[in-house]
Amino acid sequence: MQTAERLTKIPPYLFMTLRNKINAAKAQGVDVISLAIGDPVDPTPQAVIDELCRTAQDPENHRYPTDEEWGMLAFRKAVTRWYKRRYDVDLDPKKEIVALIGSKEGCHHFALGVINPGDLVLVTDPGYPGYKPSIWFVGATPYPVPMKAENAFLPKFADIPSDIAKKATAFYLNYPNNPTGAVATRPFLQELVEFAKSNDIAVCYDNPYSEVVFGVDRLSFLNISGAKDVGVELNSLSKPYNMTGWRIGMACGNPDIVKAIATSKANTDSGVFNAIQYAGIAALDQCDAFIEKMLAIYAGRREKVIRTLRELGWTYEPPKGTFYLWAPVPKGYTSPEFCEFLFEKCAVVIAPGSAYGQHGEGFVRFSLTVEDKRLDEALDRMRAALPRLEFS
Ligand SMILES: Cc1ncc(COP(=O)(O)O)c(C=O)c1O
Repeated sequence: MQTAERLTKIPPYLFMTLRNKINAAKAQGVDVISLAIGDPVDPTPQAVIDELCRTAQDPENHRYPTDEEWGMLAFRKAVTRWYKRRYDVDLDPKKEIVALIGSKEGCHHFALGVINPGDLVLVTDPGYPGYKPSIWFVGATPYPVPMKAENAFLPKFADIPSDIAKKATAFYLNYPNNPTGAVATRPFLQELVEFAKSNDIAVCYDNPYSEVVFGVDRLSFLNISGAKDVGVELNSLSKPYNMTGWRIGMACGNPDIVKAIATSKANTDSGVFNAIQYAGIAALDQCDAFIEKMLAIYAGRREKVIRTLRELGWTYEPPKGTFYLWAPVPKGYTSPEFCEFLFEKCAVVIAPGSAYGQHGEGFVRFSLTVEDKRLDEALDRMRAALPRLEFS
């Protein structure tokens, strides 16, 4: 059977590979603890579940959710209220918001709606593994922009060659950042807007961790004057409300890009189940306190992991965002080698930095989306089995 040539460019999706490895070990009776994947194990807020149950009873909601192609206006209005309350950002629900089946879907429809075959597209390295495949799928070429520890894992615009900047048509990036946990600053985002404006680059600012910050203010790309002229922000209910399985998010900002995403979506899927959109409204309107509760849980888990890493020889400043800890690899190991070593010694799975791009090498990522009891067990195993590690 012929399959498309474009698929030959796509490496196996990191988390599928990790899941297969975990399942294979479990099948052999190994008690594996995964700190590899960013998928909250804690439940969705009850108010959201109740709203889904209530609205799923209404046959009106069993039909295609296509009456309003950009997502229900009621959902888009809730997004408007949320952005105003949480970020002091004004959005027009009729022109500047489209509902998504998660921000990952938005990354893909951004490519379909904005990028042409043959285009050059900037993408941070390390970067979320979902970006490059979307760029390849539309026949464009990703150009890696390094994010280095010495620059607080923020790209340096001055280091992007000017011919590349001129040629590029789009830029994918995300802060609070997966995988590094780095957060953006206002001056950085102002520079991003200027850079995009002067080089005519459309920005896909993927922001599903916007709420997951520790000791710094929440920040939206749309907080920056001129941001709506150059790009969109993708956001999602997955991470703040433990709703990864529900598949609901939003693209907000530049009306032309929002319309392009909506057009691509209208010809691909039939939108988000109405009952899930109603449940999404409940999350956005009623669950601010839930976010604070989850942040306190993550803060506790962060402290535990940081304390253990320090006991084992790590000295590093923990990142300020996301529920990941991005830590340097001990001396004598590549990132996959260290992950393998940890797996063999402790049956603990973490993600190798190299899986996020060549500039991710030298780091590993710990995810905090695991029950406290299991996290404690993983850390006990690490303290018992690992030698004191050395770092260059
Ligand atoms: C940077 C980034 N973007 C997008 C996603 C996908 O999120 P969603 O569940 O909203 O599709 C993830 C999930 O891990 C992510 O880390």
